[in-house]
Formats: sequence, C-alpha cells, structure tokens
Amino acid sequence: MTRLRLGVNIDHVATLRNARGATYPDPVRAARLAMSMGADGITAHLREDRRHISDADIAAISALTREVGKPLNFEMAVTDEMEAICLSHRPHAACLVPERREEVTTEGGLDVVGGHNRIAPSVRRFLAAGIRVSCFIDADPQQVLAAKSVGAQIVEFTTGPYCDAVREGSDQAHALLESLSAAARQAHALGLEVHGGHGIDFETVGAIARIPEMVELNIGHFLIGEAVFMGLGPAIQHMRSLMDEARAQ
Ligand code: PXP
Repeated sequence: MTRLRLGVNIDHVATLRNARGATYPDPVRAARLAMSMGADGITAHLREDRRHISDADIAAISALTREVGKPLNFEMAVTDEMEAICLSHRPHAACLVPERREEVTTEGGLDVVGGHNRIAPSVRRFLAAGIRVSCFIDADPQQVLAAKSVGAQIVEFTTGPYCDAVREGSDQAHALLESLSAAARQAHALGLEVHGGHGIDFETVGAIARIPEMVELNIGHFLIGEAVFMGLGPAIQHMRSLMDEARAQ
C-alpha cells in the first residue's frame, strides 16, 4: 500500500492562545514544528467567527508552507468572503466544510447534494485559480456522487462518527467503519482522491489507515491535546508510526 499522508491541523493552538487573548502559543510556530516532525502538510480552518485561526495566521501559514514546500489545506465554509480570502492566498487545496456559528466543531459533512448550485460555481473558480478542491462529506453514496459532479478532485470523509463510536464502546463502530470503507471504494472508483479526518486519535487511526483507498488523514484536536503530555513533535511522530504500522499489515 502507498504511504499515507499526515496533515496536521493546528487550529487548536490558536484556540489556546485566544482563550487568554495572548500572543502565544503561536499556531505558525506549531505548523513549522509539525512539518519538521513529519507532517506532510498543514490544515487550518478560518472560521467565519475567527474563534481560533485569524486572517493574519492564515497569511503567515500560507507563506510558511510555501517556503517549506508543503501543502496548505485551507478549510473553509462556502461563502463569498472565504472564497475571496482563499483565492488571495492560493493554497494547495481548499477543503469545503459546513459551518454553523453555534457548533463547537464541524458537525458532519457538507451537504453537496443540497448545495450543488452554490458549490459548483465556487469549485470552478478555485480550479481555474489552480487550487485543488476537497469536499468534506459523510460516507454517503449520494454525497460522493455530488462531490464528483461539482468537480471536486478530493473527498475527505468525516471519520468523527466512527471515532466517537469506538471511544463510547458503541456496537455501531464496526458498521460505521464499513460505510467509510465502502464510500472510499466508491470515491476511488470515480477517480476521486480519498482523505479522512475528524476525531482521529491513537486508538482509532489504525483501522482508518488500513482502508486502502485513503491517501491522507487530517488530524488536529487530539494531537494538540496530546502535546500537553508528550510534546507536539513526539505526538506527531507516534501518530505517524501508527499509520505506517497499520499500512504495513
Ligand atoms: N478535517 C476537517 C474537514 C475538519 O473540519 C477538522 C476539524 O477542524 C479536521 C479534519 C481535524 O479534526 P480533529 O481536530 O478532530 O482531528
């Protein structure tokens, strides 16, 4: 199996900084460290309410990833404001996510079926600017078809429900993993690149990494939390080794 890419999401370094209105910890420093410790790219979500990453962070992370030569996966809601910001930075990829102000974190995937007419023109503008487009969707066959039809090259499947089920000891975990695997096969057969993200930790990464069609995992909250105990670099290195071990099996 091919090597699985690890994208590190540094949003919650900014959450910690903003809790005090301070200038530290700096998410840009975390992004630099993450890439030096084995991250294949950086993911950052500029939310409409700017609750963690700021416009200045995005500008700095965009410059840093360009300097280091690694991709920035810019997570964003499909709005005119975010589209303009994304086009101004021209990141490697735009990952289109749903966003509701009252949510604690991204809850579930983007409804590409229902939002087709709004999403498709935006995707066209990104592609014309040389930005790859990823749709963050549930493991749902209709959403996979819709992502293909709006012109996205990538689908990132929401791994959150599976990871939550494992942590809760729910008997749904197996079925949720099966639907992720089936959706990954479907997307791959349609020529879409397959990513996964949300809620992944040391316990859940193995089963997800073993899905052969997976090309990239984007992991944030758990790694930033684990950094408190083992340091960000070792947490990333351990995640990387669990991914490699899973792929080698
Ligand atoms: N991928 C997407 C599309 C996300 O919205 C998030 C959360 O910002 C992640 C990956 C990372 O999820 P987590 O922080 O739970 O690891």
